[in-house]
Amino acid sequence: MSKPSLLITRRLTDAVLKRAARDYDVQLNADDHVFSREELLDHCQSVDAVLPCHSERFDADVLAQLPDRLKIIANHSVGTDHVDLKAAKQRGIVVTNTPDVLSDATAEIAMLCMLGAARRGAEGNRMVREGKWNFWSPAFMVGRQVTGKRFAVLGMGRVGQVAAERARGFGMEIHYHNRRRLPVELEKGAIFHDSVESLLAVADVLSLHCPTTPDSIDLINAERLALLPDGAILVNTARGALVDERALVEALKSGKLFAAGLDVFKDEPGGNPEIAALDNVFLLPHIGSATFETRDAMGNRALDNLDAFFAGREPADRVA
Ligand code: DGY
Repeated sequence: MSKPSLLITRRLTDAVLKRAARDYDVQLNADDHVFSREELLDHCQSVDAVLPCHSERFDADVLAQLPDRLKIIANHSVGTDHVDLKAAKQRGIVVTNTPDVLSDATAEIAMLCMLGAARRGAEGNRMVREGKWNFWSPAFMVGRQVTGKRFAVLGMGRVGQVAAERARGFGMEIHYHNRRRLPVELEKGAIFHDSVESLLAVADVLSLHCPTTPDSIDLINAERLALLPDGAILVNTARGALVDERALVEALKSGKLFAAGLDVFKDEPGGNPEIAALDNVFLLPHIGSATFETRDAMGNRALDNLDAFFAGREPADRVA
């Protein structure tokens, strides 16, 4: 029996590519560039399935032009904001994601962003590297201690829960807001807030872990930033779209925010030059899940979903 054909849009780990080549007739993106819309559509015409990353946008228009033979989009990401799930459902295209396997890695990056922002990691690193460290005093490079502070999780899903666990390890008090309150055993003493506003009012560190939907775009805007305690820290390892970056720049410049630690931006790759020009930011290039272990696990999870689909079973991580 011939193997199903599969387009893999980006360079995955060797182990994942080996497994994919064993079970599928694989089409690769040899130089790992981001496909233009036209290239994406063109490559999709001759395959039964596609394994994309968040870098490929499947909006309603692209979905409408996919061939009838293409039956599944098995994402290599937990976020699915790059796929119009409603339009996919209407076209009868199954969509899956890769939850769980990246929670530890992403929570680690949230801690790096928090500490990098609180302890002025980027400024200090730059100073030493550039040979500009020529002074020391007790008043030099003083930052914020996170121990004993309130870590506020907006979106207490899998990543949010692991981030809360890690922050607990730093002696922080955990607060959260989520659409639904967690069962007591998952809360582990975290304090539930029934509104975003109530959470913001206590957030010494606000860490974003909610999905991007049309309702959550610019969720953290000027009005909401104003609700934070003075000198708060914003951590975003979810999606850049959640934050109004113009309002963020203002809050960072005015000192309303002590600092921000960001792994994600509205414009990726590239980021926001106005944010990058500030000293009180710790910035990373969307590497929340970028560990060898997690990349293997994400690729395998995407392949597990494809295997289930082509074996006539329900993929475990179906989102549409
Ligand atoms: C995810 O899985 O959503 C990460 O942001 C990487 O794409």
